[in-house]
Amino acid sequence: MHGTAFDSARRKFFARTVKAIQTSMAAVVGLITGGAILSPGFARRAGRWLPVSASLATLVENAPTLTTVRVAREDGYSRIVERRTVLLVRTGETDVTALDPTCTHLGCRVSWDDASKELRCPCHGGAYDHMGIVKSGPPPEPLPRLATRIEGNRIFIQA
Ligand code: FES
Repeated sequence: MHGTAFDSARRKFFARTVKAIQTSMAAVVGLITGGAILSPGFARRAGRWLPVSASLATLVENAPTLTTVRVAREDGYSRIVERRTVLLVRTGETDVTALDPTCTHLGCRVSWDDASKELRCPCHGGAYDHMGIVKSGPPPEPLPRLATRIEGNRIFIQA
């Protein structure tokens, strides 16, 4: 009899403890998710136009050129500037497509092979055409594109 009452109290204590842990975990997940979405840093990152290191005049038609863009991230305490690489492809007088050079198979960086006229991945032999469309090998999707804007001779990408 005494053992049963003790077991019941223990069960209630255990149930309350589990519920308290679950509530705490839900609160932490909510804080992290809400902070990431609502933070000023997140708002600033969306839709920024950043100048690339190459100019329109330096791009060779239909030959992707590797270029860089500086991306600044702020978290309230520090400011980190990263260099991000981007492939730029000029297909007309002022038509420029920006491609993320990260292979869609397992993330190696592709580069332009002028002899074969392909963007080639050094890791598993994936090949894309000059616009990032898969030609052969394991990549499952085309290279991702980034929005571009041209102002005179300057090129901006949205990152
Ligand atoms: Fe590019 Fe595998 S990572 S083909």
